[in-house]
Amino acid sequence: MAQDDLKRAVAQAAVDRISGHFDGSAVIGVGSGSTADFFIDALSPHRASIGATVASSERSAARLREHGLPLVELNEVQTLPVYVDGADEIDAGLSMIKGGGGALTREKIVAAVADRFICIADASKRVEVLGRFPLPVEVIPMARAYVARQLAAMGGAVRLREGFVTDNGNLILDVHGLTIRDPVGLEQSINQIAGVVTVGLFARRGADLLLLGTPQGVVQFERR
Ligand code: 5RP
Repeated sequence: MAQDDLKRAVAQAAVDRISGHFDGSAVIGVGSGSTADFFIDALSPHRASIGATVASSERSAARLREHGLPLVELNEVQTLPVYVDGADEIDAGLSMIKGGGGALTREKIVAAVADRFICIADASKRVEVLGRFPLPVEVIPMARAYVARQLAAMGGAVRLREGFVTDNGNLILDVHGLTIRDPVGLEQSINQIAGVVTVGLFARRGADLLLLGTPQGVVQFERR
């Protein structure tokens, strides 16, 4: 089964799973990336019964608009019952590496507001230990070199994502070669480096539910 078919299947499973919120008033948080794109496509037929959506990137916002889905700013929203997004890696504790698309900061903000985080991913994203996927870190431009030195001291090989500027006007450093056995601890340590906006480790606030697309069907894992 092609990877896109698995992504499409988990996107549809997420829509089925959250359909109880299609009451004309609930706001749905929408993530970023190719799996989130499939989720937006699957949401589209329900546009008349969705109160509004909040997007975690300009790219997702544009796709939501193209589909005629109602879109509001996060600041206009009091409650967000659910946020659906993909991941670059996810472990058994439902901690994630995110930010392959560079939208990690807005993703983390929307995830923080949401009551429930549903991660949708194809089977290739499920790992025993996080770190094979380079860990993205969004940094304020003037702090780039300092933060890179600090990250290198933590054991990673740091590379600037060339030619890339985030939706917030910042840079991304990708940290290669980490073996992340304590995702919560590393998330806290990196967040404390001056100049770091966000680290793409989602461990303190991981997913609550993983819908994993496998060739045998969609398998679900609840956070323990
Ligand atoms: C973007 C993200 C995405 O969720 C992550 O990169 C997964 O993307 P895809 O669904 O295309 O594999 O964190 O910043």
